[in-house]
Amino acid sequence: MQKTLTQYLVEQQRHQQLSPDVRLLLEVVARACKTIGSAVGKGALGGVLGSQGTENVQGETQKKLDVISNDILLKANEWGGQLAAMASEEMDTIYKIPQHYPQGKYLLLFDPLDGSSNIDVNVSIGTIFSILKAPDDVMGREVTEADFMQPGRQQVAAGYALYGPQTLLVLTLGNGVVCFTLDRELGSWILTQENIRIPAETKEFSINMSNMRHWDTPVRQYIEDCLAGETGPRGKNFNMRWVASMVAEVHRILQRGGIFLYPWDKREPNKPGKLRLMYEANPMSMIIEQAGGAAVDTVNRILDIQPSQLHQRVSVVLGSKDEVETFKKYFS
Ligand code: AHG
Ligand code: MN
Ligand code: MN
Ligand code: MN
Repeated sequence: MQKTLTQYLVEQQRHQQLSPDVRLLLEVVARACKTIGSAVGKGALGGVLGSQGTENVQGETQKKLDVISNDILLKANEWGGQLAAMASEEMDTIYKIPQHYPQGKYLLLFDPLDGSSNIDVNVSIGTIFSILKAPDDVMGREVTEADFMQPGRQQVAAGYALYGPQTLLVLTLGNGVVCFTLDRELGSWILTQENIRIPAETKEFSINMSNMRHWDTPVRQYIEDCLAGETGPRGKNFNMRWVASMVAEVHRILQRGGIFLYPWDKREPNKPGKLRLMYEANPMSMIIEQAGGAAVDTVNRILDIQPSQLHQRVSVVLGSKDEVETFKKYFS
């Protein structure tokens, strides 16, 4: 018998793995991802390709789909009563739940559309989300950005939707990682993978090689050793992949192992990295760790970083556990 997302979540609630509020919240996020996936699939026919002509707080030019996806997630999640506020890559500051809706205890963070540069060339893109519990005293007062400043290990749940040849939803509630495939005829998320485990070893790395001249010496040394092949210090031949959307990269690593790196580089020396801690690195790190992998900012565990800013950036190295350990040695 096929198991739907709803069945899975109800079972998890019965086994005390999640609260009724988070269950409802996840249902709504999953539905919003279905809506985004449908807009993505229409492409030129839906008028969703191309640039919006505006800039987000990161200084990136927004694509139409960045904005459409952000709006879909806001509208889907604001009325249900589970949330105190939301935060997103595409919004300068937090979005407080309007007064005419009931206020909830949870905080939702998202990268509404990950891999924006892939939209117009019809390559895999995704949505990343993270759920935190608001501090206990949030009921009856204004929620603030400070309420979001929690380390990633406190996430209640995290996941991503992948809009590719198949539309997938990968989810962790803190007890392993599961994957659902969207049955496009039925419109239902069907459980297709349970207890996903990342192989500890790998021969595949994922980094934007065009930035090599900007990297820190240990990163360059690590990649040079991978490139040296079986006669080099690593004693094996490595393969390389770079999709340019973190969701696709993480999904490949969940399926067959690998290491993904977006390290700090000299192009922007004052920024710790390109990727965003709260709605990219944290949810992905929780998923990777829950599947037996590791995620560091070069040496420190990402999930232990105490955030100080909503749009804080971070250097990211994640994937197969033994390979991440090997990488860390280049920094010691
Ligand atoms: P976003 O589209 O949400 O801004 O994120 C894109 C990120 C990430 O998904 C990907 O790994 C990386 O940027 C790609 O960067 P390059 O363009 O430097 O390859
Ligand atoms: Mn962006
Ligand atoms: Mn992104
Ligand atoms: Mn994005």
